[in-house]
Amino acid sequence: RTLLATAFHAPEPSGMEVLEEVLISIDAEGRISDVLKSDAPGYTEKRTALEAAGVLEVLPAGSYLLPGLVDCHVHAPQYPQLGDALDVPLEVWLQKYTFPLEARYADLAFARETYGMLVEDLLANGTTTALYFATIHQDATRALVDICLEKGQRALVGKVAMDHPENCPDFYRDASPEEAIAGTRALIDYVRSHPQNREILVHPVITPRFIPACTDAALEGLGALARECGCHVQTHCSESDWEHGYVLDRHGMTDTESLDRFGLMTRRTMLAHSNLLTASDMDRIVERGAGVAHCPLSNGYFAGAVFPLRAALEKGMHVGMGTDISGGPSASLFENARAAILVSRMFETGVDPDRAPEERASGAARRIDFRQAFHVATAGGAKALDLPVGQFTKGYLFDAIVVDTRAEKGTIRLFDDRDAGETILQKIVYGASRANIAEVYVGGQQVR
Ligand code: GUN
Ligand code: FE
Repeated sequence: RTLLATAFHAPEPSGMEVLEEVLISIDAEGRISDVLKSDAPGYTEKRTALEAAGVLEVLPAGSYLLPGLVDCHVHAPQYPQLGDALDVPLEVWLQKYTFPLEARYADLAFARETYGMLVEDLLANGTTTALYFATIHQDATRALVDICLEKGQRALVGKVAMDHPENCPDFYRDASPEEAIAGTRALIDYVRSHPQNREILVHPVITPRFIPACTDAALEGLGALARECGCHVQTHCSESDWEHGYVLDRHGMTDTESLDRFGLMTRRTMLAHSNLLTASDMDRIVERGAGVAHCPLSNGYFAGAVFPLRAALEKGMHVGMGTDISGGPSASLFENARAAILVSRMFETGVDPDRAPEERASGAARRIDFRQAFHVATAGGAKALDLPVGQFTKGYLFDAIVVDTRAEKGTIRLFDDRDAGETILQKIVYGASRANIAEVYVGGQQVR
């Protein structure tokens, strides 16, 4: 099948492209088999022939095609807590609210209900790929895998490993390092041998929660497992002063150095937050080809720090965007993209009105714009996850959203006599809400 649409994509951080009235062909496997730009040789002939045959699928006026959004950090079990409990420090939030909520996923019926809602809501917000932390529970985590397969969302799912007897409560902890490792292995086997996962929609992820929650024995075993099975790894890295300081105390080195020592810093590793990286941490992450999930809303509430996104992109680091549900109070990556732009501006100018302007500003160029935010939320995250999605390029899987800028209850206003090209994408990035997302495709299949 072939679509005719005006599409936007950003394969590189500084390389966004407007594809005016492009012809995108998709094969039976859901892969993009051809992308023909309107100025390419053969375009008019192909378009005319498809039109004559009545098989060209034309996007309606006012609708635009974007790559599906890639959420690189979601805590699926925390969805019931979205928009709640944002006023305490991270370490209090975990013990008082988050661990008790996650412990409830021992109840499979509760898990099915909340995970079903979450996956539907993320798809409705345009998230076609999500990297999930689940809980320590085998059955509930398997239910999340099943639900992603049923609803057609591309997903990476990890059973959370957390076995540290001092930092995890008795009511919510892996009983031993062996149990944390065996449970992780069992989930990998479940995902990889799942009969409905033939086209590999869902991937397993090794998921040590963060260093404070894990014993060294667990971290070592999970590092060995990563080497053995080659699967993705996710964890939290240098998020807040408390967390970063704890690791410096316990291991005498930064999170990045410690994770690397355990074999957990791979090409398929996603580090959430990573706000307090040193220059050499950044170099190490780039060298390993690991990625960072930038979670701007969550960082505002829990990290007390700003991830230096522009510096990371300039170093060539793989960076994706994360909602960090429910550390961040929104399920929308568009809202996080806007937050990323806003915090980068404040990071550049400084925020303390009691200081003179020249003292307030860092002097460094730290801002990003809508193009880079869009890249990070799509192709950047996809590249960090080593998945062939996030852009309209031959050979990539067709994961896409149709944004209807004329949706009655939508939040975008375009004016035909002034808005064209990049301005349309800019207005979409700044304005899009769930009501504007008209259609969602994963692997060529319409899932909404
Ligand atoms: N660090 C360890 N666990 C968590 C979590 O659930 N959310 C956030 N934001 N940070 C964490
Ligand atoms: Fe998180």
